[in-house]
Amino acid sequence: MAEAVSTPARLAVVVGGAGGVGGALARALAGNPSYDRVIVLSRRLPADWPATDAQDRMVWMPADILDEDSLAAAAVRIAALGAPTLILIATGILHGEGLAPEKTLRAVTAEALSRVFLVNAVGPALVAKHLLPLTPRDQPSVLAALSARVGSIGDNRLGGWYGYRASKAALNMLIHTMAIEHRRTRPLGVCVALHPGTVDTALSAPFQTAVPDGRLFTAEQSAAALLAVVDSLGLEANGGFFAWDGAPIPW
Ligand SMILES: NC(=O)c1ccc[n+]([C@@H]2O[C@H](COP(=O)([O-])OP(=O)(O)OC[C@H]3O[C@@H](n4cnc5c(N)ncnc54)[C@H](OP(=O)(O)O)[C@@H]3O)[C@@H](O)[C@H]2O)c1
Repeated sequence: MAEAVSTPARLAVVVGGAGGVGGALARALAGNPSYDRVIVLSRRLPADWPATDAQDRMVWMPADILDEDSLAAAAVRIAALGAPTLILIATGILHGEGLAPEKTLRAVTAEALSRVFLVNAVGPALVAKHLLPLTPRDQPSVLAALSARVGSIGDNRLGGWYGYRASKAALNMLIHTMAIEHRRTRPLGVCVALHPGTVDTALSAPFQTAVPDGRLFTAEQSAAALLAVVDSLGLEANGGFFAWDGAPIPW
């Protein structure tokens, strides 16, 4: 009698699944039959957890992107479930207590710059350090980190938002650099930075008045657009920076 061959579980991982876009990405993936399991990493259990009829397919793991021990522990648990073919990093910070985007150079402080760089650039690099090695060597895989168009140096005509812009530019460089290294062992692996559009979340809430009519996405709209971009990425996209509609963004 032929031995039964078990098919490996198809896993997607969403880091920052308690956030606006991250939560919508996790919910969309949970309803996507291309994946058997959606693993959600966040500091706290997402507010609406479990709020989907696909809840049995969702697994939550606690992780702080600035705490390598928590990422290493999550990596061990993920590896026990299988090899993820999709890793989405949807963490980020723009404002918070004692933190606001700088309108002028005079507002720049070491403390605020460091905090924004830590969350927006260092954290995703640590996530990739621990989770990229879990991707399969012989199958297509995508790691996509949510960046922001304002992190484009070529597209910066307005100025301001020093820390956020610079931290996203740093994130873009980290993604581009890891993409080159990753390709050496994962010929079918793709790493990209994605701009989700301007999305109605806590992160953008204080800045939405300036958004032109019809240009503010719901988190669900953004998630659907981003997942369509992920699906459309070819191998040549590796190391690139793309918007929610798939258009490349200048560095
Ligand atoms: N919304 C927009 O218009 C827009 C535009 C361009 C780019 N983006 C980018 O899109 C991404 C998602 O943003 P969003 O709008 O969904 O913002 P959000 O709702 O504020 O979500 C951001 C998430 O990041 C998490 N986070 C922050 N520090 C963390 C840490 N140390 N460890 C683990 N998680 C951490 C937060 O966790 P807690 O819930 O625990 O605080 C929060 O859930 C960000 O990278 C953002 O820069 C957003």
